Amino acid sequence: MPCRIAIDGPAGSGKTSVAKLLAKKLGFYYLDTGAMYRIVGLYLKNKNIDEKSHEEIEKELKKLNIQFKEGHFLVNGKEVSDEIRTPEVGIYASRFASVPIVRKYLTELQRKISLNENIVVEGRDIGTVVIPDAEVKIFLTATQEARAKRRYKELTNRGVKVNFEDILNEIILRDKQDSEREIAPLMKAKDAIEIDSTEYSLEEVVDMIYEVVKEKCKL
Ligand code: DC
Repeated sequence: MPCRIAIDGPAGSGKTSVAKLLAKKLGFYYLDTGAMYRIVGLYLKNKNIDEKSHEEIEKELKKLNIQFKEGHFLVNGKEVSDEIRTPEVGIYASRFASVPIVRKYLTELQRKISLNENIVVEGRDIGTVVIPDAEVKIFLTATQEARAKRRYKELTNRGVKVNFEDILNEIILRDKQDSEREIAPLMKAKDAIEIDSTEYSLEEVVDMIYEVVKEKCKL
């Protein structure tokens, strides 16, 4: 039986770092579904498409080919770059993420990738919609301030010039967009374990989840 771990939570809750480290520790695949929404957001924005133009979006999605190879995404044959990591692309990703056809397209792709794999999948709707029967479900949170601080540090370390207030406002805006949208809103699955990471280090959170995985997946 595969061991599929769903990690959901708001922007900046530490999902990405936690999911990556956990996957490495377990020797599992790692799937960043936020990156997929970012790829679509950037692609549609570059085509000057509005999120209300559902027919145009559907047409464009048919031309888009996202492949997942050895933990990396290829978009129409090209490796995706740091371009998708900016706060601006995050907002586009979040905006297009409320379009039903975008969610259907990416949900199907995510299910295909996760099928029968030992995998750590992180996002907003993994435990509720994408893999509702995941063996382990985690809902990771932290205060908005703590999340903004982490994002600021991460981007600054990568040499991206950002302003703390902009990051905090982006987090507040995305929390609102992601949790208030009609389909697949950010929400804790009933059977998910909630971890508030505000006071814990990355390693501590990974260790907590690792213990749950060992028990649930009988490792
Ligand atoms: O995890 P992230 O910040 O890279 O995600 C970018 C946006 O994509 C996020 O604001 C909402 C959307 N998203 C989503 O709607 N569902 C997912 N499973 C993952 C991301």
